[in-house]
Amino acid sequence: MNTVKTVLELRAAVARARAEGKRIGFVPTMGNLHSGHVALVTKACQRADFVVASIFVNPLQFGANEDLDSYPRTLAADQEKLLDAGCNLLFAPTVSEMYPSGTTTQTRVSVPELSQELCGASRPGHFEGVATVVSKLFNMVQPDLAVFGQKDYQQLAVIKAMVRDLNLPVQIIGEPTVRAEDGLALSSRNGYLSVEQRAIAPAIHRSLEAIATALAQGNRDLQGLMTEHRKRIVDSGMRLDYLEIRHADTLRAATEQDVELVILAAAYLGNTRLIDNLRVSLSPAA
Ligand code: PAF
Repeated sequence: MNTVKTVLELRAAVARARAEGKRIGFVPTMGNLHSGHVALVTKACQRADFVVASIFVNPLQFGANEDLDSYPRTLAADQEKLLDAGCNLLFAPTVSEMYPSGTTTQTRVSVPELSQELCGASRPGHFEGVATVVSKLFNMVQPDLAVFGQKDYQQLAVIKAMVRDLNLPVQIIGEPTVRAEDGLALSSRNGYLSVEQRAIAPAIHRSLEAIATALAQGNRDLQGLMTEHRKRIVDSGMRLDYLEIRHADTLRAATEQDVELVILAAAYLGNTRLIDNLRVSLSPAA
């Protein structure tokens, strides 16, 4: 697996693969890779002949008080994991390679309908930063398909909408969340947790599961379920950002008639912000 740092080298390598008739798969990441990322690369390898991964900690998607500087950078270990997973090419650009004129005047891509609420409410500008860097990466790699984790459910929805609205010729694949044995969704940010915080963290997933079970058993008191589990998460020792039951496609507040639902939550343990979600498909008669 080659690692390239410039757009010129990236384009040359992808052009060679394409000239050989290969289908190009792409997995964008911010590095500090775990089994969840490996699953994305594995999926890309199943669906494509030449897989490109990127590692870029994108300053545009971090707020002023967020963890841009402390975000773990572990390139050597990441390269090994990508190689083992079957990745063919790693693109690991510098900030100046991605934003040669700086970030202030950078053209932005915004998906307003899906970006303001949930994570967007407490992280203003975050999804604009994500959509901008992902569209730049798509233009650099020009993949046939790209794989994203369903753990970042709202991000996946934003990217799907961007691809649809801008007619980008790339297929977006969402890969299920990989979890620890106790249910905690794998995330690079889990590494920030102390032993005590790590023991509390699965409370989010427990609440998502409990709500999903209640819904599947016919409970349609969405407000009651949200109220009960917001309290449970707070009682576990976390600072809740949000817990919401939304329509799975539009992310609008769910109604009692909706059958395709997603339960989404974000909460802080100390300064660490954790997110998780669970899709629920109800039979209309339930
Ligand atoms: O999910 C991530 O790691 C990032 O938001 C992404 C998609 C690589 C864009 O920087």
